[in-house]
Amino acid sequence: METKKTSSFTGSLGFVLAAAGSAVGVGNIWRFPYLAAKDGGGLFLIVYLALVVTFGFTLLVTDVAIGRKTRENALHAFGSIRKRWAFLGYLTFLVPAIIMTYYSVIGGWIVRYLVAYVSGKGTEAARDGYFTAFITSKASPVFFMLVFLAFTAFVVYRGVEKGIEKFARIVMPGLLLMVVGIGIFSLTLKAPGENGQLRTGLDGFLVYVIPSLEGITVSRFLNVLLDAMSQLFFSLSVSMGIMITYGSYVKKDINLNRSLSQIEIFDTLVAFLAGMMIIPAVYVFFGTEGMASGPSLMFVSLPRVFEAMGAAGQVLGAVFFLMVVFAALTSSVSIMETLVANCMDIFHASRQRVSMAIGLISAAASLIICLGYNVFYFEMKLPNGSTAQLLDLMDYISNSFLMPFISLLTCIFVGWIVKPDWICQEMEASGHSFTRKRLYTIMIRYVTPIMMAVLFLQSAGVFELIKR
Ligand code: ALA
Repeated sequence: METKKTSSFTGSLGFVLAAAGSAVGVGNIWRFPYLAAKDGGGLFLIVYLALVVTFGFTLLVTDVAIGRKTRENALHAFGSIRKRWAFLGYLTFLVPAIIMTYYSVIGGWIVRYLVAYVSGKGTEAARDGYFTAFITSKASPVFFMLVFLAFTAFVVYRGVEKGIEKFARIVMPGLLLMVVGIGIFSLTLKAPGENGQLRTGLDGFLVYVIPSLEGITVSRFLNVLLDAMSQLFFSLSVSMGIMITYGSYVKKDINLNRSLSQIEIFDTLVAFLAGMMIIPAVYVFFGTEGMASGPSLMFVSLPRVFEAMGAAGQVLGAVFFLMVVFAALTSSVSIMETLVANCMDIFHASRQRVSMAIGLISAAASLIICLGYNVFYFEMKLPNGSTAQLLDLMDYISNSFLMPFISLLTCIFVGWIVKPDWICQEMEASGHSFTRKRLYTIMIRYVTPIMMAVLFLQSAGVFELIKR
């Protein structure tokens, strides 16, 4: 039977590609561009970048180093360091369990769009109400979710080296090529606006990268900051046990310092390029108003852009959604792998049996989320003021509520109980120096816990209560 000790990535490249595959996903291509469009373009970019090199780096280093040093999954990693902190492992395990339920639903939506474009029905996807009609229908979203989930389970079933690493090695270079290609193409677009004035992709690019301070207040800036922060957790796959699990598969001679920088750069670059693909294209055809569509930017606005491009748009649509399917699959594989690896430990069962069981349980849970748009439809107000249905509620619980809380506890644990040197030693275990050691120590002990506490209180709606 495969155990945690026999599973490992073959080398540095395998680890970087698998971890970057986990990081680059729906978060980068769907979430990042609409947040950038909503939060002042360049303003969001600057804030996000500043957070990546400070908070993102701190949380990524912490997760991977804990995994590699303990050779344990999140569930047992914390308890193996200090028995009294075992509860943090259980709490962390909850996050991928929640995310898996809705990630495969969104994965199914993407597969649906890919099928529409490949079968020459892309123009239908651009019709008013197409997206809503699709997600509220009873059978279709379930079918596509199952297709997406079956493929995810198959890759996990094949194991770390033959499944996850091999898949990432094939998919990731292609994904990067497609993002760069479509990004550059987007800059070359042009079309006349309503007033007859020509709008170009380059104008759209400037809208994307130039910071807009219009209507900025302290409270508005705080919201931009919080948006960027929760995006960071989701995008880097930190504070959800995934990077602890992947860290446990990294060999001791790998230079973590370099590999983690490469993962940070890869993830941020793809997010930036995703914005460069989508924002200028939507701007050229629909102006700044077109960019205000929020979460539906990729599923509603983008198909309209492809339609406006004519025949070329149909091909581009197929390539685009193929790329998003790749990105979503490598991420959902990492989410399911975390669940499978943990359950193999709990039940002492083989990877194959556990993969099938987790696949089936995930299918049942995701079915409920699919039905959240019809049979179990409800609307509720979240503490941050937005209105949520079942899927949004799960997303909120995992990303905005649990992740900051887990990060806060992890920072207290590492910064004050086991002390940052414990992590620094692991970062230097391969004989390479940990270049951002001082920054790491300050971040993990002081800055990150304070920021996480603020984020947690904000997401729990405490500040809103105080204001009243
Ligand atoms: N990191 C993954 C994403 O961005 C979960 O979609």
